[in-house]
Amino acid sequence: MHDSIDAAGLKGRDFLSTQDWSVDELETLFALAARLKADRKAGIPTRLLEDKTLYMIFFDSSTRTRNSFETGITQLGGHGIYLSPDKMQISHGENARDTANVLSRYGEAIAIRHCAFGEGNEYLTEVAEHASVPVLSMQCDVYHPCQILADYLTIREKLGSGRGLKLGVAWTSAPNYVRPISVPQSLILMMPRLGIDVTLAYPPEFRLLPDIEEQAQANAAAGDARFEISHRFEDAFEDADVVIPKSWGPLVHTRDHAEGVRLIEAYPDWRCDANRMALGKDHMLYMHPLPADRGREVTNEVIDGPQSVVYDEAENRLHVQKALMALTM
Ligand code: CP
Repeated sequence: MHDSIDAAGLKGRDFLSTQDWSVDELETLFALAARLKADRKAGIPTRLLEDKTLYMIFFDSSTRTRNSFETGITQLGGHGIYLSPDKMQISHGENARDTANVLSRYGEAIAIRHCAFGEGNEYLTEVAEHASVPVLSMQCDVYHPCQILADYLTIREKLGSGRGLKLGVAWTSAPNYVRPISVPQSLILMMPRLGIDVTLAYPPEFRLLPDIEEQAQANAAAGDARFEISHRFEDAFEDADVVIPKSWGPLVHTRDHAEGVRLIEAYPDWRCDANRMALGKDHMLYMHPLPADRGREVTNEVIDGPQSVVYDEAENRLHVQKALMALTM
C-alpha cells in the first residue's frame, strides 16, 4: 500500500476545500478509503503513519470530527494532539504565521476547525501559507470538505456510482443555534463534479455565498451534471435518490443573531418528515452530517427509520480522513 500512496503524489498537499483537488485525486482518496475500511473490518493493521503527529486545533466544539480524526491517526500508528485556542498562545494573540511555523517543526500535519463567519477560512489559509506540513480543514465558515467526502463514500456504497443520481440538499428550520453554511456549500461544489445532479432548496433569506453558487453551476457543467436552486422545500425531495435536509444560518443575508433566529423560526414547516420522504424514489436515502435537531429538522420516524444512513455516514468520516492523512502526511 505504501507504494501506491507514494505514487499518488499527494504528500504535503493541503486540503482546505475539495475544489483544490482534481477529480482523479479525489477518486484516489475514495479508493484508499474503501481499502482502509475493508482492512479495518478484516482486522488487517494499517500502520502507515508510525511516529507521525497530527495537531488538531478546535476553535469550535465537535463530536464526530475530533473523534474520527483522533481515532484515525491512532489506527494509522500515529498520534493526534487535541488543541484549542484557550490552551494555546493563540489566546494571547500569537498569530497564524508563528503557530504554523512552530507546529511544522514538530509534527507532520495541522488540522483546524474554525467556523466563525468571515474569519475561519482566512485563518486556515494563512496557516497553510506559512506551514511546511499539510493543513487539513476540519471545517471552516466556507467549507466542510471531510464531511462531503464521507457523504460521497456513503452514497457510492449504498447506490453504486453516483453518476446520474439526484441529490436534494434542503434547508431545515432549527433555531437552537445558527449553524454554518459550510456543509451545503461543500455539497453543491463537489457532488456535481462527480456527476451527481443537485437540487438545492432554501427560503430566499438562506442563500449561500454567490461565488460558491456560481462555482457549483460551473462544476455541474464540467461534470455533465445538473445544479438548480429552488425556494420550494419539496423540490429537493421529488424523485430524489438521496436527500440531505439540514439547517444553516441566514449568514449571507444578515449577521444579526437575533434576526437570524427570527428568520429560522419563520419557516417551521421546512422539516423532513415521512410525507416529504414519500416524494422521493423508493430507495431514497436520508442523510444528515449530525448533530441533528430531532423534532425540528427531522422527525424521529425518519432519522431512525429504514431510509436513514446517518450512522454509516458518520462512520465514513473515519475512513475518508484516514485516507486523507495517509495520502498527505
Ligand atoms: N458533522 C460534524 O462535523 O460533526 P461534529 O460537529 O460533531 O464534528
